[in-house]
Amino acid sequence: MSKSKTAAIVLAAGLGTRMKSEKPKVMHPIAGRPMVQNLLATLGKLNLDKIVVVVGPEMDDLEAAVAPHTTAVQYNRCGTGDAVKVGMEALGNFNGNVLVLYGDTPLMTEQTLNAMLEARQPIEGQFAPAVVVLGFLPEEPGAYGRLVTDEEDGELLEIVEANDATQEQLMIPLCNSGVMCFDGGVMPQLLARLSDDNAKGEYYLTDCVGLAREDGFSCSVVEGDEEELLGVNSRIELALAETIAQDRLREKAMKGGATLIDPSTTFFSYDTKIGKDVLIEPNVFFGPGVTIGNGVHIKANCHFEGASIDDGSVVGPFARLRPGAKLAENTHVGNFVEIKNSDVEAGGKVNHLTYIGDARVGAGANIGAGTITCNYDGFNKSRTEIGAGAFIGSNSALVAPVKIGAGAIVGAGSTLTADVGENDIVTTRAEQKRVPGAAERFREAKRAQKEQNKKKG
Ligand code: UD1
Ligand code: CA
Repeated sequence: MSKSKTAAIVLAAGLGTRMKSEKPKVMHPIAGRPMVQNLLATLGKLNLDKIVVVVGPEMDDLEAAVAPHTTAVQYNRCGTGDAVKVGMEALGNFNGNVLVLYGDTPLMTEQTLNAMLEARQPIEGQFAPAVVVLGFLPEEPGAYGRLVTDEEDGELLEIVEANDATQEQLMIPLCNSGVMCFDGGVMPQLLARLSDDNAKGEYYLTDCVGLAREDGFSCSVVEGDEEELLGVNSRIELALAETIAQDRLREKAMKGGATLIDPSTTFFSYDTKIGKDVLIEPNVFFGPGVTIGNGVHIKANCHFEGASIDDGSVVGPFARLRPGAKLAENTHVGNFVEIKNSDVEAGGKVNHLTYIGDARVGAGANIGAGTITCNYDGFNKSRTEIGAGAFIGSNSALVAPVKIGAGAIVGAGSTLTADVGENDIVTTRAEQKRVPGAAERFREAKRAQKEQNKKKG
């Protein structure tokens, strides 16, 4: 691709008032991470020389979220042209390609950005265009800037903001997505001449096109797809962007060899890793940091985050894996089981109504229904170790810290407060007491009592 140096300026100083939120708009998550990080990840694939993110004052969380990229603070939010000026100062005397992107347009693809850079290359002895604008044909052009082009050669003449456009210009279907690619060497002379004499009283970046033409440079348009150019200004558009991002992730999982019975109810995070021949039933949510091996079967209605499931395991229905849950190969985790910060080693089975926290379940161990690792005493978390091949009877409470040796058997209903040796059998419940025939005598006494009460009235 392009041999000339390339930098990017991402504009993210806006507050996004229409989000009705305490946090900056670009910090709202899409596919499990702030939307600006989705855009930065795409830029990451382009091997750019430098990226500057323009932020507003007091946006510490945003600065942390975009690290290690440089940030530049725009103190007075007086338009996209001013914001780019702030970004250019942070870039120094950069005269390669400068891509300008908006942080609230997070679904941009690598292919489209490459097409923009390509359009900046000179063809057959002609000069390269000084500004390339990414245009699109939205269903509703509404408030988007309109791209005025030459009827004969399609060259871009100017961008008119909707607020400043004539009725005739408003009829132009081709709109400005906001993404532009500049000749960095020409930019300072354009930015220096921007004025705020317009409907909004702002310094419009879009005026750079007209100014470049005044200086004898050409400008051009690359067309993009409406779906990837969606700008997020409200929670409704955030939900739309989420759906588009999810559809891409679903497609990627299926292309990678996973079967999704109902893709529309399978939700991934940007970093979900899925192996081959994985079968995913409906209503499954993957939070960030999940890795699924090959041949795994995930039954309906599960929630996972920060967890890994190795080859051949069967999980769900209704299972919850929290951060640090690591299931080795061929494990079984069943309904209403919650696992946190624990290893279940190969072939381990935790099938019903159980909480496993801060624990190790050894290879092939079987955890009975209703078992609870009591890992928290209100002050400290403690560990439970369950050896390979151990059998924990149903409804046992394992009060941590506690160790159960390999091959041990714990009787149902036990509350363990001390370690169990290898191959021991242990029960902690009270002895069973038998009173022969007592049930019938009990019922007779109760019936007699009822009769007497009736007579009394
Ligand atoms: C802008 C374009 C318009 C285009 C539309 C596409 C201009 C003048 N207009 O309009 O042609 O069709 O985007 O969505 O550029 N920002 C700052 N500092 C500022 C102002 C804005 O950082 O002082 C950032 C915002 O955070 C946002 C982006 O720039 O990420 C766009 O700003 P916004 O005010 O939303 O521009 P639009 O009116 O949508
Ligand atoms: Ca906008």
